Amino acid sequence: MTFEIFKEIDQYLEDRLLAEDAVLDGVAEFSDRAGLLPIAVSPLMGAFLQVLAKSVKAKRILEVGALGGYSTIWLGRALPDDGELITMEIDPPAHEVATQSIEVAGLGDRVSVLHGRAADLMAEMIEARAEPFDFIFVDADKPGYPQYLDLCLKLSRPGTLIVFDNIVRGARIVDPANDELGVIGIRTLLDKLGATEGITVSGLQMVGKKGHDGFAVVLVE
Ligand code: DHB
Ligand code: MG
Repeated sequence: MTFEIFKEIDQYLEDRLLAEDAVLDGVAEFSDRAGLLPIAVSPLMGAFLQVLAKSVKAKRILEVGALGGYSTIWLGRALPDDGELITMEIDPPAHEVATQSIEVAGLGDRVSVLHGRAADLMAEMIEARAEPFDFIFVDADKPGYPQYLDLCLKLSRPGTLIVFDNIVRGARIVDPANDELGVIGIRTLLDKLGATEGITVSGLQMVGKKGHDGFAVVLVE
């Protein structure tokens, strides 16, 4: 099997399961034109995140790493009218694209795109005793993942669902010769998840348009 067949199957599923969406297509194009890395979640992954967020009836969503706002829109659309999503992005051009994308998607009333270091912004929320989130999606710098887990748990309550993107990294996590900081970050996250009490967790490999990667899904008990 080759990467081509994974892409073909993703397209087949998209064609049958997902509606045409000019807003999401426009945001993907805008992100490309602005020179952002083409690493946003795929449409099917975005739809899966939306299914999860709706399943837990999320009214407060946190996203760590907005990039151009593509996954943010999928998640923002899972919210009820009185729901709220906070996303954060450190890269100024990406922050600008995400801010505009959220406006174009008509989600400006419920989505805030914060600019800054996610670890600092999350620490400030903990300090301010922010209400816990119902759903959290972590899709930011991979070396930061172990720290993001600690911070996410402090911003959670029993029943919070947390999803981490990119836990497989094209199988690089199992290559003993690979010592990239991002790969080490994911390995450390997975070791920590396995040793954390009071959570139910799984790791899922995925193939598709984005190649071979995966989600860790964590339910806080
Ligand atoms: C990379 C980052 C991501 O969040 C992703 O989904 C895919 C790739 C990267 O940094 O290479
Ligand atoms: Mg990612």
